[in-house]
Amino acid sequence: MNRLGGLRGVRVSGLLARIGAAALLMAAANGFAATGAQASGELNLYSSRHYDTDERLYSEFEEKTGITINRIEGNADELIQRIKSEGANSPADVLLTVDAGRIWRAQQMDIFQPVHTDFLEARIPSYLRHPDGLWYGFSQRARIIFYDKARISPTQIQTYDALADPALKGMVCTRSSSNIYMLSLMAAQIEHKGEEGAKTWAAGVYANRAREPQGGDTDQLRGIASGECAVAVANTYYFARTLRSEVKGLDETQVAKIGWVFPNQSTTGAHVNISGAGVIKTAPNKENAIKFLEYLASDSAQAYFSAGNDEYPAVPGVELSESVAKLGLFRQDTMNLAKLGENQPLAQKVYDEVGYK
Ligand SMILES: [Fe+2]
Repeated sequence: MNRLGGLRGVRVSGLLARIGAAALLMAAANGFAATGAQASGELNLYSSRHYDTDERLYSEFEEKTGITINRIEGNADELIQRIKSEGANSPADVLLTVDAGRIWRAQQMDIFQPVHTDFLEARIPSYLRHPDGLWYGFSQRARIIFYDKARISPTQIQTYDALADPALKGMVCTRSSSNIYMLSLMAAQIEHKGEEGAKTWAAGVYANRAREPQGGDTDQLRGIASGECAVAVANTYYFARTLRSEVKGLDETQVAKIGWVFPNQSTTGAHVNISGAGVIKTAPNKENAIKFLEYLASDSAQAYFSAGNDEYPAVPGVELSESVAKLGLFRQDTMNLAKLGENQPLAQKVYDEVGYK
């Protein structure tokens, strides 16, 4: 066994999609346009993603660069812990995971090194990457408001503030406050309203609960379908998924009952989060790791990467997958996502202080 021990080497042959000509040109200017035979070596990727379309991502990267991807998949917090405990001997080159709050936890463990390339900085909007280049977002999801069309008018729920409106008493469903998505949403509220304003908001939303916070995002949507919730908060990709495939408890008729609103379109924009990646501080294959990040920012990779989880691409102008296109474009909150991590401890404190379960 080599020093990678349990690493599963994955070589996947698949469709080689054409990379957009413009992206290729930009990439060539930055050294990414690898020609297979010239580049070589390995890339050790620790990933909490597990989507079929990701296979095409990896195979395309391998074909374009000649670099073999060795992949370890697992729960994000476990991967972060593993990299930390492997220390200086960690084979990890790149950590790929979701939610800026979780990426911040990795950053707190001091496992990333800064990466700056003209290509990455030109392609990824500044609010979707760490100011010092410790990580980059490669797809976006918004946390938005869903509603029962039979009970609610979309005019009632145009803002996150509306979730705290007493008119919605007994109607609102969310996950529990300890969930990373809820912490990131609160972190954004704190940034916009300050701690006191965020606390008032949290108390109002909790007072409007239709049931104690519980379940995952799909369960919030199921709550609308079953009639238990009139209004719910969930990430866009959970709903987009119901538009393209069978999800238990959400058949076509049930999904048709559900409407959606991108909140705060005339103020801050809707709260967004990312799937993102950073290069590990001790990366044995640093150059390959940077090539991989640049590859993820290319047009074709952007399309695969976002479609894999029904997310929005991070790079402006990349075509949306069919399910995401049905949700439509919206105005994003462009606060730097590093704030979501910085405010995370305060976010839990605010929820706790108002007794938000
Ligand atoms: Fe999720």
